Amino acid sequence: MGRFIAVEGADGTGKSTQARLLAEYLGAVFTREPGGTPLGERIRDLVLDPDGDGPVDRAEALLMAAARAQHVELVVLPALAAGRDVVSDRYVASSVAYQGYGRGLGADVVADVNRFATGGLQPDLVVLVALDVPLAADRLGDERDRIERSGDGLQAKVVEAYKEMATADPDRWIVVDGSGTIDEVADRIARAIDEWLSR
Ligand code: TYD
Repeated sequence: MGRFIAVEGADGTGKSTQARLLAEYLGAVFTREPGGTPLGERIRDLVLDPDGDGPVDRAEALLMAAARAQHVELVVLPALAAGRDVVSDRYVASSVAYQGYGRGLGADVVADVNRFATGGLQPDLVVLVALDVPLAADRLGDERDRIERSGDGLQAKVVEAYKEMATADPDRWIVVDGSGTIDEVADRIARAIDEWLSR
């Protein structure tokens, strides 16, 4: 089995760029959520469209989970079974942070829904790209999707949720400072990964 690594972070932390660079560094399959499959990408468009009739919070949680079920069964598990490492830009922790804490649906119920969606597949490692909300908001700029438009209140809850999850499970989570240039952050992540691999 390959290793399954999820990269997490609030919006504007540079997490997507870093996830891609990490996949290159490891020679891993790179994928993302919501998305990663044709159906998942269609769900992504539906959920993130700022002009659509947005889903209610419970529907948002279920759509994220549906895209994830498709992604796990058709992309992640086959790659792991073939011995490839997989780096996913976001995974279950995103739903716990955004829908569970951010939307206030509750961490436990969102985790339960996702256990069903994923058949219980957990990442071997979660890399959290951490950056203060004002800095991340600057990086985001004005081109925001529907969830990014929910505002800094949601982002602040998401940041707190990630911190809590990382503190509660230090063996599985690595927290990396997301400030500085792309290369600086990528170097920090590479060093943290090397250290994790040598544990
Ligand atoms: P993201 O992947 O960060 O996209 P980009 O880097 O292209 O902006 O954003 C997807 C959005 O979806 C982000 O606001 C977080 C949100 N999201 C959830 O709310 N729950 C989830 O389970 C996932 C996977 C994403």
